[in-house]
Amino acid sequence: MAVSRRDKADFFTKKAHSEGYPARSVYKLEEINSTHRIIKPGDTVLDVGAAPGSWTLFTHRELIKGRGKIVSCDLNPLSLDPVPPTVIEFTGDAFSKEIRAKLVDEGPYDAIISDAAPMTTGNRIVDTSRSEYLAEQVVMLAEEQLKTHGNLVIKIFQGGGEQEILKRMRTIFKKAKAFKPKASRDDSFEIFLIGLDKV
Ligand SMILES: C[S@@+](CC[C@H](N)C(=O)[O-])C[C@H]1O[C@@H](n2cnc3c(N)ncnc32)[C@H](O)[C@@H]1O
Repeated sequence: MAVSRRDKADFFTKKAHSEGYPARSVYKLEEINSTHRIIKPGDTVLDVGAAPGSWTLFTHRELIKGRGKIVSCDLNPLSLDPVPPTVIEFTGDAFSKEIRAKLVDEGPYDAIISDAAPMTTGNRIVDTSRSEYLAEQVVMLAEEQLKTHGNLVIKIFQGGGEQEILKRMRTIFKKAKAFKPKASRDDSFEIFLIGLDKV
């Protein structure tokens, strides 16, 4: 029997809550990491667009295994209680002069992961161009702050210049590709760009 869109959403939402994660998005990172080995124990990781905190908590528990450091930044505070001891949290616009300088101070990073997304307006052109801006900013940060051999994950709304960004990532990483996790809602136009092994 086919699983409906709503059943799939409910399944991941319930699973997240039962495992102590504030958002179902955790299963996207789980799949991305299990298929691409982005983060390993002991890594220093930057999580951009980190609230409410599922990617950060999963990285702490399952990926760096409580060793290493996670720098988590969002316009809103994390809703994790307690905030894991490996986490340094910055609240504000990751690309403002002030917050960006703090992220740079904590770098360089073994991995940068960004699930950052703009507030959607329902206007696809506006939403995709705002998503493209965020993705471009993360790529610029990665060019500067990712260590050699480091890995990158960026969310972008499809139609938001993802081919251009992938082209640029292919000049920065040995491998770069687009990936749609199964936990992503069927009706979502998000996609993840993955850069592996920074040159
Ligand atoms: C889909 S949510 C992230 C969910 C998160 N990965 C988790 O697992 O809990 C997208 C987040 O991007 C954040 N965001 C958007 N623009 C940002 C910016 N310029 N700087 C920091 N965070 C931003 C939003 O505030 C929002 O919390």
